[in-house]
Amino acid sequence: MSIDYQEKIPNNVNLGEDRRLQRALENWQPAYLNWWDEQGPDKGRDMEVYLRTAISVDADGWAQFGHVKLPDYRWGIFMAPAQENRKIAYGIHKGEAAWQEIPGEYRSELRRLIVTQGDTEPASVEQQALLGRTCPSLYDLRNLFQVNVEEGRHLWAMVYLLHAHFGRDGRDEAEEMLARHSGDPDKPRILQAFNEKTPDWLSFFMFTFFTDRDGKYQLASLAESGFDPLSRTCRFMLTEEAHHMFVGETGVQRVIQRACELMNELKTDDPGTIRAHGGIDLQTIQKYINFHFSVSVDLFGQELSTNAANYYTMGLKGRFEETKIDDDHVLKDASYKVSEIKNGEVVMADASAITAINERLRDDYIADCQKGVGRWNKTIAKAGIDFEMKLPNRAFHRGIGAFTEIRANPDGKLISQAEWDKHQSEWLPTDEDRVFVQSLMKPVTEQGKIAGWIAPPARGINGQSFDFEYVRYH
Ligand SMILES: [Fe+2]
Ligand SMILES: [Fe+2]
Repeated sequence: MSIDYQEKIPNNVNLGEDRRLQRALENWQPAYLNWWDEQGPDKGRDMEVYLRTAISVDADGWAQFGHVKLPDYRWGIFMAPAQENRKIAYGIHKGEAAWQEIPGEYRSELRRLIVTQGDTEPASVEQQALLGRTCPSLYDLRNLFQVNVEEGRHLWAMVYLLHAHFGRDGRDEAEEMLARHSGDPDKPRILQAFNEKTPDWLSFFMFTFFTDRDGKYQLASLAESGFDPLSRTCRFMLTEEAHHMFVGETGVQRVIQRACELMNELKTDDPGTIRAHGGIDLQTIQKYINFHFSVSVDLFGQELSTNAANYYTMGLKGRFEETKIDDDHVLKDASYKVSEIKNGEVVMADASAITAINERLRDDYIADCQKGVGRWNKTIAKAGIDFEMKLPNRAFHRGIGAFTEIRANPDGKLISQAEWDKHQSEWLPTDEDRVFVQSLMKPVTEQGKIAGWIAPPARGINGQSFDFEYVRYH
């Protein structure tokens, strides 16, 4: 499963054996590079970045680290190794051999799943394009670019599937991926969270913690797909995704740590004093959590969804860790607890498990988020400070699903519109909060130095120290 870097497009899918496909992708490549040039990371200065590049898809040592000029990064097409005799694990095709080609009857569903996933990848690069100008350290700048090049590669992964399996339609869809842009009023990205701005580094860390984690759950359920090339593609993408969430979790943790250090140094818990000394107060961090969590849980879709049920029944998209779940994997008569509104309260009610697939994935996601929040709270407790970060209730500030109709506070209590209006500024970042956070975003590009609003990381990348030359300027 080694990767051929002599090829114009590095790959481990034997691209050289299919000349037509290779030519089609080589035709798409300049359009991609153009897009990267126009919509990708800002390149105000000529630089080399200490990046990892996939050299093999084996679990041990797939990555090679070295300084790379960003546009010279080798985007390629990589799949995890095939599992011998892989069988479809659920739905009406349970027990049948996984498909190596698209089953004709599921063509449009699969295309839709692949396009929706693929669209998020370049979207996040666009959302983060300006952050390089305000990096808090070279370490962070390197992490940003690592995330960016890998999201670019994830687009390659989905575009490969479109080109290889969907003919003309697939090529058209691949072009559309570069024509839609995050926040574009005429041609926006498909999912709303990917049209929001990522204007500052606190937002970036929140995004990589909460929104990349949605990506993890979507990829994990697509990794269960009966369409084997999609499954193998997603399995390799998941290994890259883990680093993005690491960047998010440790990023937020370091902002919290810095706030705690200032609180202890200054012997105060007054947010205004923390701000006056260049830190981001814990209350503001909590508001950012509330915002990013609520827009990210929307990405899982409606609580009850016949689309999701159909994808499952067809064997196209499974549940998180489908094969580890102890049930019949058909779910015909099974039920699942879903929260809904009844008599002015959020209550749990039984729903058909198969229509509640989205909600189950959302539950898995929320439990995973909760673990990270628990680790953030350990940082606060270790500093001896009496404060806890909390995930808001899923009913809070929703744009999709049953809770769009109502207003709820972060504890999930239903409230009136008047009450919402009165308290909203305590729960979600205000313009003033955003302007304040923005005011701290001054670039620090001196080796070993870091901005005042964030603590340095506990350790560097690939065994290097924090003051390593992660980015070289020329
Ligand atoms: Fe991605
Ligand atoms: Fe990601």
